[in-house]
Amino acid sequence: MYDRATLHIEPFTGADDTATAKDMAATAKGLAALLCDAVQGGASLGFMPPLSTDTAYGYWQSILATPPAELRLWIARAEGRIVGTVQLSLCGRANGDNRAEVQKLMVHSDWRGQGIAARLMAAVENQARRLGRGLLYLDTEAGSGAEGFYSALGYSRVGEIPDFARNPDGQLRPTAIYFKRLGDAGTPRPADSAETAPFTIRSACAADAAAIAAIYNPYVLDSVITFEETPVSVAAMADRISDTLAAGLPWLVAERDGQLQGYAYAAKWRARSAYRYALESSVYLAPTAKRLGLGSELYRCLLARLREIGCHTVIGGIALPNTASVALHEKLGYRRVARFEQVGYKFERWIDVGYWQLHLDVGPQD
Ligand SMILES: CC(C)(COP(=O)(O)OP(=O)(O)OC[C@H]1O[C@@H](n2cnc3c(N)ncnc32)[C@H](O)[C@@H]1OP(=O)(O)O)[C@@H](O)C(=O)NCCC(=O)NCCS
Repeated sequence: MYDRATLHIEPFTGADDTATAKDMAATAKGLAALLCDAVQGGASLGFMPPLSTDTAYGYWQSILATPPAELRLWIARAEGRIVGTVQLSLCGRANGDNRAEVQKLMVHSDWRGQGIAARLMAAVENQARRLGRGLLYLDTEAGSGAEGFYSALGYSRVGEIPDFARNPDGQLRPTAIYFKRLGDAGTPRPADSAETAPFTIRSACAADAAAIAAIYNPYVLDSVITFEETPVSVAAMADRISDTLAAGLPWLVAERDGQLQGYAYAAKWRARSAYRYALESSVYLAPTAKRLGLGSELYRCLLARLREIGCHTVIGGIALPNTASVALHEKLGYRRVARFEQVGYKFERWIDVGYWQLHLDVGPQD
């Protein structure tokens, strides 16, 4: 049995601006080895054995480049290897926004029978709910062991389509179609795994400074997301938190299993008094907490607090490019209002900053 602490199931987030070509190639290589193992073992995954590593690698390169609006991917890692994966294909048709297809669930032959597939499926269902997808469906070779697995997870068998795909011997085999209604789409389901356990959002205190600095400082050192260039000490971070709270502004943190996973806070947009109804919002997550809806949840809570304190308008400044941050701000209703060119200089290059703004319709009226 694997040690639960060593198994990590993460949504794939690499196809953004921060992933290096080397990271992407390593991920595609690990997934290719997994796919070759599964196809070699007779799994019906769209390929015929023998599957070459090159073909498998090419397949994963195209999957990793698919926009998240169309396809979500989860990767299970243990002992430094990729040991499982699953995909969720989001129907893009105007009338199909309630459904998504579960595809290419696979666990390496050395790691089967240990609940990894069930944990991957829990991650899929949790995210599907967050995305408002109330219906999941899938197909699997009729008569295969996977049928019992999906039934045990509550999927209903619709029927079979004959002669659907060839097995490794070249014979045509039927496929069985399954579906599951998630029912409470939009509400994250509490789950038992660390990766899918719910987050708790609360107000920060100075004692959170070390954990917050641990999340923030890698962005200082390795990215242009923030224009700070020197890591922030725990004492300085504690001062920032205390100053923010003392000014009556919110600083929220998100925890899971007692570990701080992310934070969001508001700051004055500018110091002069007539700017007093305008605030700036910021959010930072630990890398393993990305793409789980946490950024959205933190921002929703932050915006609710900003309305309560009478903030009229909120501004997000984004060093460009930053696909994830732009997507998050626009999802929450912020609209792009400006782009200043070459205002930052970090890692020996110029950086533009875009500004996104959301009117909260509170505060004094004209
Ligand atoms: C920006 C950040 C907070 C987003 O948090 P998150 O929890 O990953 O975001 P969510 O899961 O709530 O996703 C919000 C939306 O953005 C989209 N999104 C998130 N990351 C994305 C990415 N890398 N590429 C494309 N879209 C992305 C999601 O699809 C989602 O939209 P949907 O619900 O319509 O599918 C997180 O990536 C982060 O901490 N980044 C580093 C710090 C940073 O950039 N902070 C902002 C400084 S301006």
